[in-house]
Amino acid sequence: MVSYKEIQASNSLINDATAPRVSVFVGGTSGIGKFTIKALVSTGASVRIYLVGRKSSEEPARAFIQELNAINPKAEIVWTEGEVSLLAEVKRICELIKKAESRVDLLFLTAGYAPFGTRKETSEGVEVAQSLEYYSRMLFIHHLLPVLGASEAPRVISVLGGGLEKSSVNVDDLDLKNPGNFSGIKAQIQYVTMNTAYLEKLAVQNPNVTFIHSWPGWVSTGNVRRGWDEGSIVARIFWFILEPIIYYFGFSDEESGQRNLFQCTSAAFGGRGIPWAGKKGVNSLEKSEDGLFLVSYNCDCTPNAKAMPQLRESSQEKIWDHTQRLLQPYL
Ligand SMILES: NC(=O)c1ccc[n+]([C@@H]2O[C@H](COP(=O)([O-])OP(=O)(O)OC[C@H]3O[C@@H](n4cnc5c(N)ncnc54)[C@H](OP(=O)(O)O)[C@@H]3O)[C@@H](O)[C@H]2O)c1
Repeated sequence: MVSYKEIQASNSLINDATAPRVSVFVGGTSGIGKFTIKALVSTGASVRIYLVGRKSSEEPARAFIQELNAINPKAEIVWTEGEVSLLAEVKRICELIKKAESRVDLLFLTAGYAPFGTRKETSEGVEVAQSLEYYSRMLFIHHLLPVLGASEAPRVISVLGGGLEKSSVNVDDLDLKNPGNFSGIKAQIQYVTMNTAYLEKLAVQNPNVTFIHSWPGWVSTGNVRRGWDEGSIVARIFWFILEPIIYYFGFSDEESGQRNLFQCTSAAFGGRGIPWAGKKGVNSLEKSEDGLFLVSYNCDCTPNAKAMPQLRESSQEKIWDHTQRLLQPYL
Protein backbone atom coordinates (compact mmCIF):
# COMPACT_ATOMS: atom_id res chain seq x y z
CA MET A 1 0.00 0.00 0.00
CA VAL A 2 1.36 3.39 -0.95
CA SER A 3 0.17 5.77 1.77
CA TYR A 4 -1.74 8.92 0.91
CA LYS A 5 1.08 10.96 2.50
CA GLU A 6 3.62 9.38 0.12
CA ILE A 7 1.31 10.07 -2.81
CA GLN A 8 0.95 13.72 -1.82
CA ALA A 9 4.70 14.07 -1.27
CA SER A 10 5.40 12.66 -4.74
CA ASN A 11 2.75 14.83 -6.40
CA SER A 12 4.16 17.94 -4.70
CA LEU A 13 7.26 17.47 -6.90
CA ILE A 14 5.27 17.91 -10.11
CA ASN A 15 6.33 21.10 -11.89
CA ASP A 16 7.00 22.36 -15.41
CA ALA A 17 9.99 20.03 -15.75
CA THR A 18 8.28 16.87 -14.48
CA ALA A 19 4.60 17.21 -15.46
CA PRO A 20 3.09 15.50 -18.48
CA ARG A 21 3.03 18.69 -20.56
CA VAL A 22 0.58 17.41 -23.18
CA SER A 23 -2.11 14.94 -22.22
CA VAL A 24 -5.31 13.48 -23.63
CA PHE A 25 -8.15 12.57 -21.26
CA VAL A 26 -10.98 10.44 -22.64
CA GLY A 27 -13.70 10.28 -19.98
CA GLY A 28 -12.53 13.42 -18.16
CA THR A 29 -15.99 15.00 -18.26
CA SER A 30 -16.87 13.12 -15.09
CA GLY A 31 -15.60 10.95 -12.23
CA ILE A 32 -12.04 9.69 -11.97
CA GLY A 33 -10.87 11.37 -15.17
CA LYS A 34 -12.24 14.71 -13.97
CA PHE A 35 -10.68 14.34 -10.50
CA THR A 36 -7.32 13.49 -12.07
CA ILE A 37 -7.42 16.50 -14.40
CA LYS A 38 -8.16 18.74 -11.40
CA ALA A 39 -5.25 17.23 -9.45
CA LEU A 40 -2.90 17.73 -12.41
CA VAL A 41 -3.98 21.33 -13.03
CA SER A 42 -3.74 22.09 -9.28
CA THR A 43 0.01 21.37 -9.36
CA GLY A 44 0.37 24.78 -11.04
CA ALA A 45 2.46 23.28 -13.86
CA SER A 46 2.22 24.51 -17.40
CA VAL A 47 0.17 21.82 -19.10
CA ARG A 48 -2.05 21.38 -22.13
CA ILE A 49 -4.92 18.93 -21.72
CA TYR A 50 -7.19 17.63 -24.48
CA LEU A 51 -10.53 16.99 -22.77
CA VAL A 52 -12.44 14.65 -25.09
CA GLY A 53 -16.19 14.30 -24.56
CA ARG A 54 -19.56 14.08 -26.23
CA LYS A 55 -21.73 17.05 -27.25
CA SER A 56 -24.18 16.56 -24.37
CA SER A 57 -21.36 17.15 -21.87
CA GLU A 58 -19.98 20.28 -23.48
CA GLU A 59 -21.81 22.77 -21.25
CA PRO A 60 -20.70 21.27 -17.89
CA ALA A 61 -17.23 20.72 -19.37
CA ARG A 62 -16.95 24.44 -20.27
CA ALA A 63 -17.85 25.34 -16.66
CA PHE A 64 -15.20 22.87 -15.44
CA ILE A 65 -12.63 24.44 -17.76
CA GLN A 66 -13.38 27.89 -16.30
CA GLU A 67 -12.84 26.48 -12.81
CA LEU A 68 -9.52 24.96 -13.94
CA ASN A 69 -8.38 28.22 -15.54
CA ALA A 70 -9.03 30.01 -12.24
CA ILE A 71 -6.97 27.39 -10.34
CA ASN A 72 -4.04 27.55 -12.77
CA PRO A 73 -3.87 30.16 -15.55
CA LYS A 74 -0.87 28.29 -17.03
CA ALA A 75 -3.06 25.28 -17.81
CA GLU A 76 -4.61 25.18 -21.27
CA ILE A 77 -7.63 22.91 -21.60
CA VAL A 78 -8.70 22.11 -25.14
CA TRP A 79 -12.32 20.96 -25.36
CA THR A 80 -12.45 18.27 -28.06
CA GLU A 81 -15.93 17.13 -28.94
CA GLY A 82 -16.55 13.59 -30.11
CA GLU A 83 -18.73 10.53 -29.55
CA VAL A 84 -16.04 8.17 -28.29
CA SER A 85 -18.21 5.03 -28.38
CA LEU A 86 -17.89 5.25 -32.19
CA LEU A 87 -14.62 4.01 -33.64
CA ALA A 88 -14.83 6.29 -36.68
CA GLU A 89 -15.09 9.22 -34.26
CA VAL A 90 -12.04 8.01 -32.32
CA LYS A 91 -10.05 8.05 -35.55
CA ARG A 92 -11.29 11.57 -36.39
CA ILE A 93 -10.46 12.91 -32.90
CA CYS A 94 -6.97 11.39 -32.95
CA GLU A 95 -6.30 12.90 -36.37
CA LEU A 96 -7.23 16.33 -35.01
CA ILE A 97 -4.92 15.90 -32.03
CA LYS A 98 -2.05 14.63 -34.20
CA LYS A 99 -2.43 17.64 -36.49
CA ALA A 100 -1.95 19.94 -33.50
CA GLU A 101 0.65 18.01 -31.49
CA SER A 102 3.91 16.34 -32.42
CA ARG A 103 4.21 14.89 -28.91
CA VAL A 104 1.76 13.53 -26.32
CA ASP A 105 3.03 12.53 -22.85
CA LEU A 106 -0.06 11.00 -21.29
CA LEU A 107 -3.18 9.22 -22.53
CA PHE A 108 -5.70 8.68 -19.72
CA LEU A 109 -8.73 6.49 -20.50
CA THR A 110 -11.79 6.23 -18.22
CA ALA A 111 -14.92 6.23 -20.40
CA GLY A 112 -17.36 3.42 -19.65
CA TYR A 113 -19.54 1.54 -17.19
CA ALA A 114 -20.65 -2.02 -16.37
CA PRO A 115 -23.55 -2.86 -18.74
CA PHE A 116 -26.08 -4.30 -16.29
CA GLY A 117 -29.11 -3.71 -18.51
CA THR A 118 -30.01 -5.18 -21.88
CA ARG A 119 -27.35 -5.44 -24.57
CA LYS A 120 -27.21 -2.27 -26.69
CA GLU A 121 -25.04 -1.78 -29.75
CA THR A 122 -23.56 1.33 -31.33
CA SER A 123 -24.37 2.09 -34.98
CA GLU A 124 -21.09 0.28 -35.76
CA GLY A 125 -22.44 -2.96 -34.24
CA VAL A 126 -20.35 -3.03 -31.04
CA GLU A 127 -21.87 -3.35 -27.56
CA VAL A 128 -21.73 0.21 -26.19
CA ALA A 129 -19.85 -0.48 -22.93
CA GLN A 130 -17.43 -2.82 -24.71
CA SER A 131 -16.66 -0.08 -27.17
CA LEU A 132 -16.12 2.52 -24.42
CA GLU A 133 -14.13 0.27 -22.09
CA TYR A 134 -12.18 -1.70 -24.65
CA TYR A 135 -12.24 -1.16 -28.43
CA SER A 136 -12.35 2.63 -28.36
CA ARG A 137 -9.57 2.72 -25.74
CA MET A 138 -7.31 0.39 -27.76
CA LEU A 139 -7.98 2.42 -30.90
CA PHE A 140 -7.01 5.67 -29.13
CA ILE A 141 -3.73 4.00 -28.14
CA HIS A 142 -2.95 2.75 -31.66
CA HIS A 143 -3.60 6.16 -33.18
CA LEU A 144 -1.65 8.10 -30.57
CA LEU A 145 1.35 5.75 -30.28
CA PRO A 146 3.37 7.70 -32.89
CA VAL A 147 3.05 10.96 -30.89
CA LEU A 148 3.44 9.18 -27.55
CA GLY A 149 6.69 7.82 -28.95
CA ALA A 150 8.01 11.39 -29.25
CA SER A 151 7.71 11.92 -25.48
CA GLU A 152 10.60 11.26 -23.09
CA ALA A 153 8.30 9.51 -20.62
CA PRO A 154 5.13 8.44 -22.41
CA ARG A 155 2.39 6.81 -20.36
CA VAL A 156 -0.95 5.19 -21.17
CA ILE A 157 -3.45 4.49 -18.39
CA SER A 158 -6.65 2.50 -18.79
CA VAL A 159 -8.77 2.74 -15.63
CA LEU A 160 -10.99 -0.32 -15.24
CA GLY A 161 -10.03 -3.50 -13.37
CA GLY A 162 -6.28 -4.15 -13.58
CA GLY A 163 -5.41 -7.18 -11.43
CA LEU A 164 -8.96 -8.57 -11.62
CA GLU A 165 -8.54 -10.30 -14.99
CA LYS A 166 -9.48 -13.98 -15.24
CA SER A 167 -7.41 -16.83 -16.61
CA SER A 168 -9.63 -17.20 -19.67
CA VAL A 169 -12.46 -15.51 -21.52
CA ASN A 170 -15.14 -16.68 -23.89
CA VAL A 171 -12.86 -16.81 -26.94
CA ASP A 172 -15.60 -18.22 -29.18
CA ASP A 173 -17.77 -15.19 -28.55
CA LEU A 174 -15.47 -12.36 -27.51
CA ASP A 175 -18.18 -9.78 -28.11
CA LEU A 176 -20.79 -11.79 -26.15
CA LYS A 177 -23.28 -11.60 -29.00
CA ASN A 178 -24.79 -15.07 -28.67
CA PRO A 179 -27.97 -15.45 -26.63
CA GLY A 180 -27.26 -16.29 -22.99
CA ASN A 181 -23.64 -15.12 -23.11
CA PHE A 182 -24.27 -11.51 -22.10
CA SER A 183 -24.75 -10.26 -18.54
CA GLY A 184 -23.38 -7.21 -16.72
CA ILE A 185 -20.86 -9.02 -14.52
CA LYS A 186 -19.75 -11.45 -17.25
CA ALA A 187 -19.30 -8.58 -19.69
CA GLN A 188 -17.33 -6.42 -17.27
CA ILE A 189 -14.96 -9.32 -16.46
CA GLN A 190 -14.56 -10.05 -20.17
CA TYR A 191 -13.71 -6.38 -20.94
CA VAL A 192 -11.26 -6.22 -18.01
CA THR A 193 -9.51 -9.38 -19.19
CA MET A 194 -9.41 -8.24 -22.82
CA ASN A 195 -7.87 -4.92 -21.69
CA THR A 196 -5.01 -6.69 -19.90
CA ALA A 197 -4.39 -9.26 -22.64
CA TYR A 198 -4.23 -6.63 -25.41
CA LEU A 199 -2.33 -4.02 -23.40
CA GLU A 200 0.34 -6.55 -22.46
CA LYS A 201 1.03 -7.24 -26.13
CA LEU A 202 1.11 -3.53 -26.91
CA ALA A 203 3.54 -3.04 -24.00
CA VAL A 204 5.89 -5.73 -25.31
CA GLN A 205 5.79 -4.16 -28.79
CA ASN A 206 6.35 -0.63 -27.42
CA PRO A 207 8.94 -0.93 -24.63
CA ASN A 208 9.49 2.84 -24.67
CA VAL A 209 5.95 3.44 -23.33
CA THR A 210 4.73 2.79 -19.77
CA PHE A 211 1.33 1.09 -19.76
CA ILE A 212 -0.93 0.87 -16.71
CA HIS A 213 -4.22 -0.98 -16.36
CA SER A 214 -5.59 0.16 -13.03
CA TRP A 215 -8.43 -0.80 -10.74
CA PRO A 216 -9.57 2.39 -9.02
CA GLY A 217 -11.39 0.83 -6.07
CA TRP A 218 -14.64 2.41 -4.99
CA VAL A 219 -15.13 6.03 -5.95
CA SER A 220 -18.52 7.67 -5.67
CA THR A 221 -18.97 8.97 -9.21
CA GLY A 222 -22.47 7.73 -10.06
CA ASN A 223 -20.86 5.15 -12.38
CA VAL A 224 -23.02 2.31 -10.94
CA ARG A 225 -26.12 4.11 -12.26
CA ARG A 226 -24.97 4.27 -15.85
CA GLY A 227 -25.32 0.73 -17.16
CA TRP A 228 -28.96 -0.01 -16.26
CA ASP A 229 -32.12 0.18 -18.33
CA GLU A 230 -34.15 3.31 -17.64
CA GLY A 231 -36.89 2.81 -15.03
CA SER A 232 -35.53 -0.54 -13.83
CA ILE A 233 -36.72 -1.43 -10.31
CA VAL A 234 -33.72 -3.76 -9.76
CA ALA A 235 -31.46 -0.84 -10.61
CA ARG A 236 -33.12 1.36 -7.99
CA ILE A 237 -32.70 -1.32 -5.31
CA PHE A 238 -29.09 -1.87 -6.39
CA TRP A 239 -28.29 1.88 -6.19
CA PHE A 240 -30.10 2.24 -2.87
CA ILE A 241 -27.81 -0.39 -1.32
CA LEU A 242 -24.58 0.18 -3.19
CA GLU A 243 -24.30 3.95 -3.51
CA PRO A 244 -24.16 4.72 0.25
CA ILE A 245 -21.58 1.92 0.70
CA ILE A 246 -19.39 3.36 -2.07
CA TYR A 247 -19.84 6.86 -0.69
CA TYR A 248 -18.85 5.97 2.88
CA PHE A 249 -16.16 3.36 2.20
CA GLY A 250 -14.75 4.55 -1.11
CA PHE A 251 -12.06 7.12 -1.86
CA SER A 252 -12.89 10.81 -1.71
CA ASP A 253 -12.84 12.67 -5.05
CA GLU A 254 -9.64 14.41 -3.97
CA GLU A 255 -7.76 11.24 -2.93
CA SER A 256 -8.87 9.43 -6.08
CA GLY A 257 -7.53 12.31 -8.19
CA GLN A 258 -4.22 12.37 -6.32
CA ARG A 259 -3.74 8.57 -6.48
CA ASN A 260 -4.38 8.59 -10.20
CA LEU A 261 -2.05 11.55 -10.70
CA PHE A 262 0.63 9.55 -8.87
CA GLN A 263 0.12 6.73 -11.37
CA CYS A 264 0.44 9.27 -14.20
CA THR A 265 3.77 10.65 -12.97
CA SER A 266 5.70 8.39 -10.56
CA ALA A 267 8.83 6.43 -11.42
CA ALA A 268 7.40 3.64 -9.22
CA PHE A 269 6.01 2.25 -12.48
CA GLY A 270 8.87 1.48 -14.84
CA GLY A 271 11.49 3.95 -13.60
CA ARG A 272 10.67 7.12 -15.54
CA GLY A 273 9.03 10.11 -13.88
CA ILE A 274 9.10 11.58 -10.36
CA PRO A 275 11.86 9.68 -8.49
CA TRP A 276 10.50 6.99 -6.19
CA ALA A 277 12.46 5.71 -3.20
CA GLY A 278 9.85 3.08 -2.20
CA LYS A 279 9.38 -0.45 -3.46
CA LYS A 280 9.47 -0.57 -7.27
CA GLY A 281 6.36 -1.78 -9.02
CA VAL A 282 6.58 -5.09 -10.88
CA ASN A 283 4.96 -5.38 -14.28
CA SER A 284 2.69 -8.17 -15.53
CA LEU A 285 5.79 -10.16 -16.55
CA GLU A 286 7.15 -9.82 -12.99
CA LYS A 287 9.90 -7.36 -13.96
CA SER A 288 10.45 -3.83 -12.68
CA GLU A 289 11.38 -2.38 -16.09
CA ASP A 290 8.75 -0.81 -18.35
CA GLY A 291 5.82 -2.87 -19.55
CA LEU A 292 2.22 -3.26 -18.44
CA PHE A 293 1.59 -2.55 -14.76
CA LEU A 294 -1.57 -3.93 -13.16
CA VAL A 295 -2.17 -1.40 -10.41
CA SER A 296 -4.74 -1.68 -7.63
CA TYR A 297 -6.60 1.11 -5.80
CA ASN A 298 -3.86 1.33 -3.15
CA CYS A 299 -1.27 1.87 -5.93
CA ASP A 300 0.38 -1.54 -5.43
CA CYS A 301 1.23 -3.63 -8.50
CA THR A 302 0.34 -7.26 -9.05
CA PRO A 303 1.48 -9.60 -11.84
CA ASN A 304 -1.76 -11.57 -11.18
CA ALA A 305 0.32 -14.74 -11.38
CA LYS A 306 -2.78 -16.87 -10.73
CA ALA A 307 -4.47 -15.88 -13.98
CA MET A 308 -1.90 -14.44 -16.38
CA PRO A 309 0.06 -17.56 -17.46
CA GLN A 310 -3.13 -19.36 -18.47
CA LEU A 311 -4.60 -16.26 -20.06
CA ARG A 312 -1.48 -15.91 -22.23
CA GLU A 313 -1.68 -19.58 -23.16
CA SER A 314 -5.39 -19.88 -23.87
CA SER A 315 -6.74 -16.53 -25.00
CA GLN A 316 -4.23 -13.73 -25.59
CA GLU A 317 -3.50 -14.39 -29.28
CA LYS A 318 -7.20 -14.87 -30.06
CA ILE A 319 -8.08 -11.62 -28.32
CA TRP A 320 -5.32 -9.84 -30.24
CA ASP A 321 -6.33 -11.23 -33.64
CA HIS A 322 -10.04 -10.58 -33.12
CA THR A 323 -9.39 -7.02 -31.95
CA GLN A 324 -7.05 -6.30 -34.86
CA ARG A 325 -9.73 -7.49 -37.29
CA LEU A 326 -12.42 -5.36 -35.66
CA LEU A 327 -10.26 -2.23 -35.47
CA GLN A 328 -8.73 -2.62 -38.95
CA PRO A 329 -11.22 -0.36 -40.81
CA TYR A 330 -10.49 2.46 -38.34
CA LEU A 331 -6.71 2.22 -38.13
N1 LIG B 1 -16.09 4.58 -9.85
C1 LIG B 1 -15.83 3.37 -9.39
O1 LIG B 1 -16.01 3.06 -8.19
C2 LIG B 1 -15.24 2.35 -10.33
C3 LIG B 1 -14.82 1.10 -9.80
C4 LIG B 1 -14.26 0.15 -10.65
C5 LIG B 1 -14.15 0.41 -12.02
N2 LIG B 1 -14.61 1.63 -12.50
C6 LIG B 1 -14.46 1.85 -13.95
O2 LIG B 1 -13.54 2.89 -14.16
C7 LIG B 1 -13.91 3.69 -15.29
C8 LIG B 1 -14.04 5.14 -14.84
O3 LIG B 1 -15.02 5.21 -13.82
P1 LIG B 1 -15.69 6.59 -13.35
O4 LIG B 1 -16.33 6.28 -12.05
O5 LIG B 1 -14.74 7.71 -13.49
O6 LIG B 1 -16.82 6.75 -14.46
P2 LIG B 1 -17.86 7.95 -14.70
O7 LIG B 1 -17.69 9.06 -13.74
O8 LIG B 1 -19.20 7.32 -14.77
O9 LIG B 1 -17.32 8.53 -16.10
C9 LIG B 1 -17.34 7.75 -17.20
C10 LIG B 1 -17.03 8.56 -18.45
O10 LIG B 1 -17.57 7.76 -19.47
C11 LIG B 1 -18.30 8.59 -20.36
N3 LIG B 1 -19.44 7.85 -20.92
C12 LIG B 1 -20.33 7.07 -20.27
N4 LIG B 1 -21.24 6.60 -21.13
C13 LIG B 1 -20.93 7.11 -22.35
C14 LIG B 1 -21.47 6.95 -23.65
N5 LIG B 1 -22.56 6.20 -23.88
N6 LIG B 1 -20.89 7.60 -24.67
C15 LIG B 1 -19.80 8.36 -24.45
N7 LIG B 1 -19.22 8.53 -23.24
C16 LIG B 1 -19.79 7.91 -22.20
C17 LIG B 1 -18.82 9.72 -19.49
O11 LIG B 1 -19.14 10.81 -20.33
P3 LIG B 1 -20.28 11.88 -19.94
O12 LIG B 1 -19.67 12.75 -18.87
O13 LIG B 1 -20.55 12.57 -21.21
O14 LIG B 1 -21.47 11.12 -19.43
C18 LIG B 1 -17.66 9.95 -18.55
O15 LIG B 1 -16.75 10.86 -19.11
C19 LIG B 1 -15.21 3.11 -15.81
O16 LIG B 1 -14.94 2.23 -16.87
C20 LIG B 1 -15.75 2.33 -14.60
O17 LIG B 1 -16.57 1.25 -15.02
C21 LIG B 1 -15.12 2.59 -11.69
